[in-house]
Amino acid sequence: MPTQSSISSAQPSVVQFARGIPPLEAIATTELTAQAEAVLEERNDIFQYAPLGRNQGDPNLRDQLGAFHGVAAEDIFVGNGSLQVLDLLAGYFLKNRRALVYVEAPTYDRAIEIFERHGAEVVGIPLEADGLDIECLQRRLASDVPALLYTIPDFQNPAGVTLSLEKRKALVDLAATHGFTILEDIPYRELRYHGTAPALLRELSDRGAVITIASLSKILSPGLRIGYAISNKNTSQALAGLAEGTYLSPVPFCQAVAARSFATGLVDSSIKRVRELLRPRHDQAMAAAQKWLGDNILCIPNGGYYLGVRLRTDMMEASFLKSARAEGVVLTRGSGFYSKSQQPGQGTLFLRLPFQALDPAEFAKGLERLVKVAETAEPQENAVYAGGPA
Ligand SMILES: Cc1ncc(COP(=O)(O)O)c(C=O)c1O
Repeated sequence: MPTQSSISSAQPSVVQFARGIPPLEAIATTELTAQAEAVLEERNDIFQYAPLGRNQGDPNLRDQLGAFHGVAAEDIFVGNGSLQVLDLLAGYFLKNRRALVYVEAPTYDRAIEIFERHGAEVVGIPLEADGLDIECLQRRLASDVPALLYTIPDFQNPAGVTLSLEKRKALVDLAATHGFTILEDIPYRELRYHGTAPALLRELSDRGAVITIASLSKILSPGLRIGYAISNKNTSQALAGLAEGTYLSPVPFCQAVAARSFATGLVDSSIKRVRELLRPRHDQAMAAAQKWLGDNILCIPNGGYYLGVRLRTDMMEASFLKSARAEGVVLTRGSGFYSKSQQPGQGTLFLRLPFQALDPAEFAKGLERLVKVAETAEPQENAVYAGGPA
């Protein structure tokens, strides 16, 4: 049987900072296989089309998700992974509307891609150590109100930042005053290794201005492709209408496995397993980051997968990535986490450093090499930042 451990799969001398996926050992594959076998024995309806008529997802799964989040099952819409849910939400909210979307700068690159594909102008609001720069947002709102504001409030991808409770309240107030919808994307929320979670934006809003997007990818299995939105009956029905016209329904088998995993306690034990596996990696990675990167770090996250770094260097991004590669460090292009119009300031490179799949010694080795690359960089005269203007 093929095995895939991200710790052992990387070539010994190369440190992979490129992908934010769960390490295989964080997925309860044996227990999931047992759930899948039980579903095959118990249910032959999973080989048929799911019932149509604005299908919001498998009713058993929606009941389980509703209980997990303390919301009504009718407020839940299930898709094939949360990215697909985001795509449908973009299709629904950006249709026939002024297509302006505010995102955090930096933010998840695929979300930018989705909004742009739906014709939106995507504008980044700077991200601080405690989340969105609310004052900057207020200034922007004075002249331009978006259709949507997309935020990843817990252990943000790519910067690891968590939005503070004060800022959550301020954001919800701004949405109510100016009349825009907030999409909060929370795939990492359950992966908290220290401290307690601030309330969800949806919980702070009494006017239905917040839609939560969530996923089982980081807490159970990304291969099941289960993502969902928590909104209200009307929005869920509208999304179901769009889904039905595109792919009929999410995959019945995967939904049945997920529903059974909730019912049998596997989701809870899987969350515990992931936290126990990643907490020591996180703790050691943060100690190494403080040693090697000091105040280049955006914040020390208390959970999730990512450490965000604003590295001060005159080097252009492409040269930095190439030199890092030569030193045995593979990085994602940090400028890809910014919309085209907003890029990190000149003299700064943004780096996303995922720690979830790396042995702590490997992670520390990667940081040491990055520092070496930054230190040996020849200052480039008249350097123009690779990603464009600040
Ligand atoms: C913020 C964010 N949203 C969505 C996704 C995609 O999740 P899914 O597997 O549910 O499509 C990711 C995956 O890395 C992510 O980081």
